Amino acid sequence: AAPVAFFGEHQAGIVTPAQDRLHFAAFDVITKDRAKLVEMLREWTAAAARMTAGRDAGLLGAVGGQAEAPPDDTGEALGLPASGLTLTIGFGRSLFRDAAGLDRFGIADRIPAALEPLPHFPGDALRPEISDGDLCVQACANDPQVAVHAIRNLARIGFGTVSIRYSQLGFGRTSSTSRDQATARNLMGFKDGTRNLKLEDTDLLREQLWARAEDGAAWMAGGSYLVTRRIRMTVETWDRTSLAEQEAIFGRDKGEGAPLGQAKEFDEPDFNARGDDGEPVIAKQAHIRLAHPDFNNGAHLLRRGYNFVDGSDGLGRLDAGLFFIAYQRDPRKQFVPVQRSLARADVLNEYIRHVSSGLWACPPGVTGDGDHWGRTLF
Ligand code: HEM
Repeated sequence: AAPVAFFGEHQAGIVTPAQDRLHFAAFDVITKDRAKLVEMLREWTAAAARMTAGRDAGLLGAVGGQAEAPPDDTGEALGLPASGLTLTIGFGRSLFRDAAGLDRFGIADRIPAALEPLPHFPGDALRPEISDGDLCVQACANDPQVAVHAIRNLARIGFGTVSIRYSQLGFGRTSSTSRDQATARNLMGFKDGTRNLKLEDTDLLREQLWARAEDGAAWMAGGSYLVTRRIRMTVETWDRTSLAEQEAIFGRDKGEGAPLGQAKEFDEPDFNARGDDGEPVIAKQAHIRLAHPDFNNGAHLLRRGYNFVDGSDGLGRLDAGLFFIAYQRDPRKQFVPVQRSLARADVLNEYIRHVSSGLWACPPGVTGDGDHWGRTLF
C-alpha cells in the first residue's frame, strides 16, 4: 500500500482510516529556550515526513553515517515499508502556561478557549504521572515495530529538549473511521466504532471536527482537539456477566452489533421502542443512548481508540482496557457533555475506570517542505 501523505491541510492520523496499531507518547519540554523548542519541532517535522514515507529518520540513515558517530536512525525499521504510518502532534495546556501560571515560551496569550482543562468526572481515578503533558505524538501504523520506531526516533532527536512523560501501546483499533473498514471489536467483545464520525461525513466533519479561525484561536484553523483517556476494564468481572446483561449495557447485540430491537449493525436505533414488558428496548442507561448526539445537543466525536493489555496487575487480573482517543472541534461542547452523561449514569461504569487523561490542541497540517509542526503557533 502507498504511504499516507504527510503534508496537507489537516494532519494525517485523524480521518485517516484507522490503522491496526498505536504508539502514543506524551512529552515534557525540559528546556526554557523557545528557539531550541522550535528548532526541535522543525527537526521532528523533517523526520516525520521521512518516516511516514517509509524512510530513515535522518538523511544518513541507520547505517550510512560515520562509524564513529551514533547513527541518525535507530535501525529497527530497516527494510520495513511505511505500513500506513501517520504521526499526529498535539500541544497540551502546560506548554503555554506552567502550573504556577508562568508564560513559558511567550505563547500564553494564544491558549485556545477550547483547551480549558477538563472537569473532574464522577468515578475518575486519574493518575497524574500518566496524564497530561506538554506535547503528544500519536503514531499509528499497521506494524507495531514501525509505530514504536517512529516515537523512539522522535524521542532520540528531542534528547535534551523533551523527555517522555508516558507512552501507551495499543492494538486492534476499536473504531473505524471510514465506511470502507469493517468494524473492529473492543476487549469487551463488542463492535466499536459503528456510529462514528467518518471520513465520508464531509459536512459533519466541517461542522464537528475541524477548528476554525473564528472559534477564537486563528493558529488552530484546520486543526482539531484531541481527548485521550486510558480506560481500564475489569475484564474478569465483565466475563462473568450474562450475555443479556452485556447487551443491555451497550444497547446493542454482541454478534451483529445491531441496536437492540433492530437486525443489522447500521440500522438506526429506536430509542422510543418499548418491549412487551413496557420497558424501553434500549435501556434508559444504555451506553449508546447516553452517548448519542440526540441526547447531547447534537455532539459527535471522531473516536479512534485502541485496545491495550499491559501485562497483569499482580492481583491475578489483566491490566487491560481501551485507550480512548477522540477528536473534535470543541471538547467543551463534545467530549465534556458526553462524558458527563456517561459518568453519571452509564451501567458500563461498573466495569471500567478512567486512569489517565489528556487534552491536546492538534494544529493544522504541515503544508510542505518549508512548513513545520507548530509554525502557526510560534
Ligand atoms: C458507542 C464501547 C467509552 C462515546 C459505543 C459502542 C460501543 C462502545 C460498543 C457502540 C458501537 C459504536 O457506535 O461505536 C465503549 C467502551 C468504552 C467506551 C468499551 C470504555 C471502555 C466511551 C467514552 C465516550 C464514548 C468515554 C465519550 C465520552 C461513544 C459514542 C458512541 C459510542 C459517542 C456512539 C453513540 C451513537 O451515536 O450511537 N461505545 N465506549 N464511549 N461511544 Fe463508547
